[in-house]
Amino acid sequence: MKISSQEQLKRKTKELTALFEISRILSSSFDLKNNLYRALKTISEILDMQRATITLYDHDTNTLQIAVAYGLTDEQIAKGKYSVGEGIVGRVFQTGEPIIVPNIGKEPLFLNRTGARIKKDNISFLCVPLKIGDEVLGVFSVDRIFSSEIDLKEDIRVLNIIATLITQYLKLYQLFNREKTEREKLTLELKKRYSLRNVIGISDKMQEVFKTALKAAKTKATILLTGESGTGKELIAKAIHFESDRSKGPFIAINCAAIPENLLEAELFGYEKGAFTGALISKPGKFELANGGTIFLDEIGDLPLHLQAKLLRVIQDKTFERIGGTKSIKVDIRIIAATNKDLEEMVKDGSFREDLYFRLNVIPIYLPPLRERKEDIPLLIDHFLKKFNEEYGKNINITKEAMEKLVNYSWPGNVRELENTIERLVILAEGNEITLNDLPFYIRQEDDTRITCVKLKETLPSQLELIEKKAIKEALKACNYNQTKAAKMLGLTKRQINYKIKKYGLM
Ligand SMILES: Nc1ncnc2c1ncn2[C@@H]1O[C@H](COP(=O)(O)OP(=O)(O)OP(=O)(O)O)[C@@H](O)[C@H]1O
Ligand SMILES: [Mg+2]
Repeated sequence: MKISSQEQLKRKTKELTALFEISRILSSSFDLKNNLYRALKTISEILDMQRATITLYDHDTNTLQIAVAYGLTDEQIAKGKYSVGEGIVGRVFQTGEPIIVPNIGKEPLFLNRTGARIKKDNISFLCVPLKIGDEVLGVFSVDRIFSSEIDLKEDIRVLNIIATLITQYLKLYQLFNREKTEREKLTLELKKRYSLRNVIGISDKMQEVFKTALKAAKTKATILLTGESGTGKELIAKAIHFESDRSKGPFIAINCAAIPENLLEAELFGYEKGAFTGALISKPGKFELANGGTIFLDEIGDLPLHLQAKLLRVIQDKTFERIGGTKSIKVDIRIIAATNKDLEEMVKDGSFREDLYFRLNVIPIYLPPLRERKEDIPLLIDHFLKKFNEEYGKNINITKEAMEKLVNYSWPGNVRELENTIERLVILAEGNEITLNDLPFYIRQEDDTRITCVKLKETLPSQLELIEKKAIKEALKACNYNQTKAAKMLGLTKRQINYKIKKYGLM
């Protein structure tokens, strides 16, 4: 058979185009089935192959099964099962060597198991192993319409190159999946240790938190949760409620910082009709509503002094009166309080009652910031990926490099910031994978911009300004650009943060 040099050139160009296209598809993501299908389609279209099939070995059943195919129906694919050594596919797998069948009509070994080939006579079948070192993962095969113009040996050479690309991809996928399975195993193992519903934490620090929380849940003792913003104080409070024997009772949360001071008392204790202008009806307060359950007093550090006194009485006697009422109301409640303020400092400067502090602090639980428990980050990322994939009907994974970068980031807004970041990444993801490039700039660049040492040639004020600017920038990002929250995170007043944002031109 003689092929003109022009024909040869044409053929080479096609081959290169196909190879380039296939490697582009396979390096795009770990969406295994979809990518392999796209690669097979490309092979068929560019290289004029009729059908293309990837058959993989299954260790559990010791059989070969078509995993992906282009040009076969689902029904035909389902029939594509072979024992090791059976038919052409089984033999190529067993020997690790390619087989060319110039005309399948004349080859008794060709089983036509899928029933896809009707006009057997004019079809050639080419089959190469998917091999890496001595390990054969499966078999890659194509159909060609038989023609004397076609050099089948040349075809096998190209198919071997494609098989190498596919095998490397399969191997990488296996490694990637193994890592994911290990993390999932770790999560499962967690269940054998201390666990709280909906709360992720395998680090020693979080395991200590779980241990204390589980013990405390069985009692009625007051709990004080402390820790930076976004560390999971409210989540733990709820988990404790659901672990306790009052789980069927109500869980009532009230944020002492979010309600104006003049309304807070009425919210907490309720009021009688006519107690003040506008009190047209009687209304029970949160303490009454929480009867038989748990009351969660969030941001307790913001409770004004006169209400601190009233709260102390509730804790001591479990009784109080509604505003404008004379009747003592008795309630059965468990109190959980939370704050990210330093209450001890507040006690020292007189803004928080010492006796109340000791009453609340019966069981203190400190939630460590995320940067001090990096082992939890991969599990949290998996947890949030699963959550937002379900919520947005997606199937997004994350690359190892992106995962590492997220683990090393300092997370000033803690788990809340991580959760928001993953949600944003899932919404914005265009492919099926989050890569390094998808990460926000400040996460990618953190290492470069971190101020690691004091530079002696620069003035101290200018360096302090740099640190301040960076801290405000990060806090703003962590709080979704909510200035009030960012100010709180940094221990600044709203006015102070506002002034500095303007000064540094940050928004
Ligand atoms: N360990 C965790 N596992 C899973 N989700 C978590 C965990 N910790 C926090 N989260 C999630 O992070 C978000 C913030 O948590 P939460 O509201 O409990 O923080 P917080 O400490 O009360 O913050 P703030 O002080 O700002 O009120 C929530 O959506 C919560 O579900
Ligand atoms: Mg909270």
